[in-house]
Amino acid sequence: MSSIVIESGVLARIGAHVPRAHAYAVITDSNVAGLYGRRVAGSLGNAELFEFAAGEANKSRETWMTLTDALLERGYGRDCCIVAVGGGVTCDLAGFVAATYLRGVPIVQVPTSLLAMIDAALGGKTGVDVAAGKNLVGAFHQPHCVVIDAGVLATLPAAELSNGLAEAIKHGAIADEEYLAWITDHADGVFERRTDMLEHLVQRSIAIKTQFVRDDEREAAQRAALNFGHTIGHALERLSGYAIQHGHAVALGMMMEAEIGTALGVTAAGTVQHIHRAVRAARLPHRIVFDDTGPTIAATRSDKKARGGAVRYVLLEKPGRVARSERGEWTWQVADDVVREALKQFSV
Ligand SMILES: NC(=O)c1ccc[n+]([C@@H]2O[C@H](COP(=O)([O-])OP(=O)(O)OC[C@H]3O[C@@H](n4cnc5c(N)ncnc54)[C@H](O)[C@@H]3O)[C@@H](O)[C@H]2O)c1
Ligand SMILES: [Zn+2]
Repeated sequence: MSSIVIESGVLARIGAHVPRAHAYAVITDSNVAGLYGRRVAGSLGNAELFEFAAGEANKSRETWMTLTDALLERGYGRDCCIVAVGGGVTCDLAGFVAATYLRGVPIVQVPTSLLAMIDAALGGKTGVDVAAGKNLVGAFHQPHCVVIDAGVLATLPAAELSNGLAEAIKHGAIADEEYLAWITDHADGVFERRTDMLEHLVQRSIAIKTQFVRDDEREAAQRAALNFGHTIGHALERLSGYAIQHGHAVALGMMMEAEIGTALGVTAAGTVQHIHRAVRAARLPHRIVFDDTGPTIAATRSDKKARGGAVRYVLLEKPGRVARSERGEWTWQVADDVVREALKQFSV
């Protein structure tokens, strides 16, 4: 696992955390360039800024090609280091550039959105979106280091904060009931950008994500727990043509999947309500309009994580604990009727 530095004001001292390199290529998007990208490049010796247009639509093979061509043209060699400064789009894209450029060069991740800090910059997954789906072309490439200044969240739009909070709620739901309650109670402080609260949020969520990813090296199945809320979440996102944001879809997915567990007698009574309170506090949606639940159920089947066509769900035992099946598995197969009822519970 890469080292993770969480420190206020660390961007000005980033030189202490990057590996020694002949030259640094700072990759950033058009929103973050002026806010932090230039500052990071300026605090490193021999660094250049490589900027791409912000937005998920640019997490593409085309942008990957433009960036790798630009690095080749500027003469970057194997002794360079890439520094990604931005949200999850930048982390994934720059990570894929680093994984492939000259067969792989080191990368330092400097995530600037909450989602990137607690999710995208960790775990070594990199990639781009293609016509057939999101994140379908990519590679595993562990960063040398992840450098986080939670203070940069001061400029992150509130809607993006909500998106990140959906993953934080997931972390609480699968691993720490107290943390789930903390998020519910302190969400307003988080939206006020209280630094102490942002730092606690980032620290606690990173500890939980890395616990599941690290332990994964021994037990491959455990990483699946991080997929809580995502079987239905991904289906809702895809079906909307990505009009529904990821965090919104995951918020709904978590409540629906908790409801599935309750209906099966696996999840303790009251769990759905706990998650519901956290979702409301994070200013995430808790209802959706369905004309027909059939297409959503069909969409869960095309999830790339569906094993041999069977749809698997992460179910909770109670807030803060994932339920293991009788065979010790981390995921459960669920009948369509049960899923349909759970979808209806949260529809208007
Ligand atoms: N690799 C992984 O394991 C993993 C995990 C989760 C998500 N992801 C990926 O992450 C992406 C989503 O990440 P995201 O939500 O950060 O999207 P994003 O990178 O598009 O950032 C969201 C918006 O916030 C802006 N922004 C970022 N930091 C800012 C700051 N400090 N101040 C002001 N504006 C700022 C960005 O320019 C962008 O407009 C998706 O592509 C998803 O697939 C990857
Ligand atoms: Zn997610």
